[in-house]
This record gives sequence, structure tokens and C-alpha cells, in this order.
Amino acid sequence: MKHLIEPTDLTRAEISEIIALADRIIEHPEEYYEAMAHKKLATLFYEPSTRTRLSFTAAIKELGGQMLGFSDAAKSSVAKGETVQDTVRVMACFADIIAMRHPIEGAPLAAAEVSPVPIINAGDGSHSHPTQTLTDLLTIHRELGHIDNLTFGFCGDLRFGRTVHSLIKALSAYEGIKVYLIAPDALKLPEYIRHDVCDLKGIPYVEVDSIEEAMPELDILYMTRVQKERFLDEDEFDRLKDNFILNAEKMKLAKKNMAVLHPLPRVNEILTEVDADPRAAYFRQVAYGKYVRMALIKSLMDWKDDPAHPMPEKDHFTDDSLRCTNPKCICNNESVTPYFKRTGEIVRCAYCETKI
Ligand code: CP
Repeated sequence: MKHLIEPTDLTRAEISEIIALADRIIEHPEEYYEAMAHKKLATLFYEPSTRTRLSFTAAIKELGGQMLGFSDAAKSSVAKGETVQDTVRVMACFADIIAMRHPIEGAPLAAAEVSPVPIINAGDGSHSHPTQTLTDLLTIHRELGHIDNLTFGFCGDLRFGRTVHSLIKALSAYEGIKVYLIAPDALKLPEYIRHDVCDLKGIPYVEVDSIEEAMPELDILYMTRVQKERFLDEDEFDRLKDNFILNAEKMKLAKKNMAVLHPLPRVNEILTEVDADPRAAYFRQVAYGKYVRMALIKSLMDWKDDPAHPMPEKDHFTDDSLRCTNPKCICNNESVTPYFKRTGEIVRCAYCETKI
């Protein structure tokens, strides 16, 4: 059975299959009106969402299936102390596939450990957001026609921005990717992405201080919200914040066919004057999110009993002498088996990837 916990749970061939199916659904939606008839998707959202939850809702309905679940965990038995793993054991009695968003890192992986139905990670804390990644890849494919040999600028909150982490992981399967990282020191890309993905898998990256420095080189500018509340030093935020606002003037420096992506919601990091620019792809990106989630749901259900689509070997191990130090990790919040993984000499928590 295939879960989607990390973008790397899908091979490049499987991602291509999902993108091709999404293309087909966009062109011929009527062929898929009954594709998930009598099937149910549970959406378990422990954290706010507009795009992800409602695009999953629209996706299952357009596939002829039904939806159940909660958007406010406080109104479920979670409020009585029910764990993620028990909640999933229960929901799997009612649903054929489950999408889960959780503020605690690793919660969807803990869910997958006990689930008899496919689990889709719809965002876990600051860690991962693989269905946003599929949305981003479909958008890039539709806007530019290919994903190999592109130069990306990731701008804003690269430390806490889970969509950035997941997209960079997925890009490691493509050829000729180059990355500009545009962020203040306080919001730099986490060490595990720079080391395990960029360094070990060969994605060259350059760190720059402003959008203008990178703009002429970029095929994709991936904006994210700079989260003022995360800065330890407010003076640093005030000094840097205008470097990370995209406006029409900065767009003049960009290639004619560059695409601006943003997972949304935006606050003020893209001025509304940019919205009318044909290169502003972020609202088209939202629409693609529904189609790619339709393709994902159908694919995971089709692949459920297909040995040609196994989960990748994880090589997770237990060791009583090791402990994850991340207070936002599931292994420090609920009773789960602490699993670890090794990347070369480095041992990490399997749930949140914190270095041990
Ligand atoms: N892009 C994204 O995850 O948006 P939501 O938080 O609204 O789901």
C-alpha cells in the first residue's frame, strides 16, 4: 500500500503518472465523474486550511466519491485525549483513504504506521507538505512545459516553510535544477534540507540577500510569507522585510516567461499590483491543486494492492539510547515508537528529521 507522507515516497515515474492523469482530468473531467463512486475520503484537519482541505473536498466530489472528517479537532474526540494513531484506526473503519493535516511534525507518519488505508500528509508542522509539492509541480509543468533544467528562487521563510522543504526534496529527482535561496539568516533553509538534499543529491544553491540579485536568472520565483512572529530580532525583520516584497518594479528584472508561484495565503509579500502580470501563476496554481489531488486520490486507490507501487524502503530503526529533541515532534507529544534513520554519518529522527 502506498501512503504519501514525504514527496520522496513517490518515484519520479509515479509523479509523472500523477501529473499526466491530472492533465487528462483537466481536459476530460467527464471521464472521471464516477472514478471514486462509493469511495470515501476522510479529511482530518487539526490545523487551519482553506486551499488544501477544500480542494480535497472538491476533488473527491468531482470523482463521484464522498467526504467525511473534521476541520476542527477540538470538536472531535481529540479533545478527550484520543491519539492520532487511535483516531486513524477509527476513521479507517469509515473511510477508504485519509488526508491529514497536523501541527505536530511526524503525525502523518505515525498515522501511516497503523493505518489499513492510504494516508496523505496534508501538511505536518514546519516539516512537509507533499500535496502542495504535487500542486507546484503540475503548475510548473503547465506553465513552462517541463521541470528539468530550471532555476528556482525560493524567497521568504525558508526555515518554517514546509512547502519549500517538500518541493526541494521532490526536485532532487529532476535534472539540472539550480536554486537561489533568498532569506534572512533567521529564516534560512534547515540544515537537513541543505545537507541531505542539496549537498548529497546535487542541487547547487546560492544564498542571496535580495530578490533583485537573483531575479534575472530565475525560471520560477517561489514566494512564501515571511512570518514576522518567528523573528527573534525585530530590528532584523524591519531591516530585511522590504527585500522580500515582490512588486511590479522587481518583476521588470525577470525573464519574460518566468512564473511566480506562492502556496498562499499571502499577507503582503506579493503586492496586488503583480496579480495582473501574466507571469503571476499563484491563483492558477490553486486551481491545479484540485486536479492534482483528484489524480493523487485515484492513483493511491488504484495502487493500493499493486506490488508495482510499494512504499520505498525506509530503513528506520529503534535505539533506546537515542532521543529526539524537537518539542514539536510527534514522538515527544504522543506515545509512538521512536524511530530513527541514518544519512551517512548523521542520525535523524524519522518523524521530523531533527539531527540527533
Ligand atoms: N497552500 C496551503 O497549504 O494553503 P492552506 O493552508 O489554505 O491549505
